[in-house]
Amino acid sequence: MQEKYFIVTYGCQMNVHESEKIAGILHELGYVEGERLEDADIIVFNTCCIRENAENHAFGNIGALKKLKKSKPELLIAVGGCMTQEKGKTDVLKKKFPFIDIMFGTLNLERLGELILRKKAQKKKVIEIQEKEGEIIEFAGAYRTSYPNAWVNIMYGCNNFCSYCIVPYVRGRERSRKPENIVNEVQSLVAEGYKEITLLGQNVNSYGSDGKTGMTFAELLDAVASIEGDFRLRFMTSHPKDFNEDVVKVMQKHRKICRLVHLPVQSGSNAVLRAMNRRYTRERYLEEIKMLKEYFPEAEVTSDIIVGFPGETEEDYLQTEELVKEVDFASAFTFVYSSRQGTKAAEMEEQIPEEVQKDRIMRLVELVNSLTRKKSEKYVGKTVEILCEDYDKKKGLYLGRDEFGRMGYFSSEQDVIGKFVDLHITKANGISLFGEIVRVKE
Ligand code: 5AD
Ligand code: SF4
Repeated sequence: MQEKYFIVTYGCQMNVHESEKIAGILHELGYVEGERLEDADIIVFNTCCIRENAENHAFGNIGALKKLKKSKPELLIAVGGCMTQEKGKTDVLKKKFPFIDIMFGTLNLERLGELILRKKAQKKKVIEIQEKEGEIIEFAGAYRTSYPNAWVNIMYGCNNFCSYCIVPYVRGRERSRKPENIVNEVQSLVAEGYKEITLLGQNVNSYGSDGKTGMTFAELLDAVASIEGDFRLRFMTSHPKDFNEDVVKVMQKHRKICRLVHLPVQSGSNAVLRAMNRRYTRERYLEEIKMLKEYFPEAEVTSDIIVGFPGETEEDYLQTEELVKEVDFASAFTFVYSSRQGTKAAEMEEQIPEEVQKDRIMRLVELVNSLTRKKSEKYVGKTVEILCEDYDKKKGLYLGRDEFGRMGYFSSEQDVIGKFVDLHITKANGISLFGEIVRVKE
């Protein structure tokens, strides 16, 4: 019988895609995907450390395996991702959870296969964390689990050192993949039938800024969008300090590129933005939105917003609210600031009390939700193109997203996963839309 794996993923899209790469490595070794944690022969935790609660979550779940490991000593437990890459964290993990067999980092993910083989040949645990980023290593394919969507890394790491953020410390400096490797990967994905490609990077707009790729992000986007085939193209994350008109012009040239930009603003207050080391102002951010809407009045913007950053006053917070209303985001991820050891912000004096943070996040979530709801209502009566992604067994409905990332549910006699369908929206419920199929694009 073939051995089974189970991967537990925390955090962002980058991690979700990296788990697909981990799955690819495990398949190479002969493992198959297991359905339940309890049946697995190897469990891999792909961790996140961007906020404290992501870490606590992982700690809790790893700890819960103690019993299983005791009753099944041959079970391998591997922990990788951003948390293991944090300074001193492997020692903490070793002490807290002596039953972990393998630890690896974000910078040597491609070596997991070798580490597993090494662990199988020895009793001692295998810990290998690479301290410094090297050249990008292209390795055998990911085992993708999200058809018809596919994620493609265009770059790794981050150079920005926003004062609250741990990412540059755990993912190293920016490295861009070679354009030909990216174009080839997308070409094969499209040939395999993938219908939505998302180009991924911590700050996609600075693609190629190391001068090694011979291409800017706008040029890369143009090259990828020029690949023939019926697919949608998205990219994330854009950084407001680097987002520019060149990119928007490429969006105008290719209808394949979704008119949706994820442009994290983080705060609406210039004082807070400065303390965050974001290197743009509120005014500049609003200018960029204006420029985007001049090209595409229908364009939508999504964002990431942090409340309770050290020193944030009520006045600063209200400026964030004002900006949210002015931009009218399609949706936004909202976060309470979480102090991360080793970052500049963790040293700042004026940390905000938890009650104040909680109060602000509640008000912000309510505001963002009310904007999203209002937008949902405007959909009713319209017909939109949805890329069908999945079937929801509980609801008995198919689901997919429109160009702006809005989820639509519908029933269908035939299996339409991976197809573009025109959906006449009959009902809106919070962020979800419900409709009837008008046409299936063959
Ligand atoms: N606390 C809260 N939110 C954070 N983010 C990054 N670091 C922190 C932190 N220390 C948020 C930012 C970023 C998103 C991916 O996570 O909004 O855009
Ligand atoms: Fe973190 Fe800022 Fe880099 Fe984004 S751009 S990963 S928030 S340091």
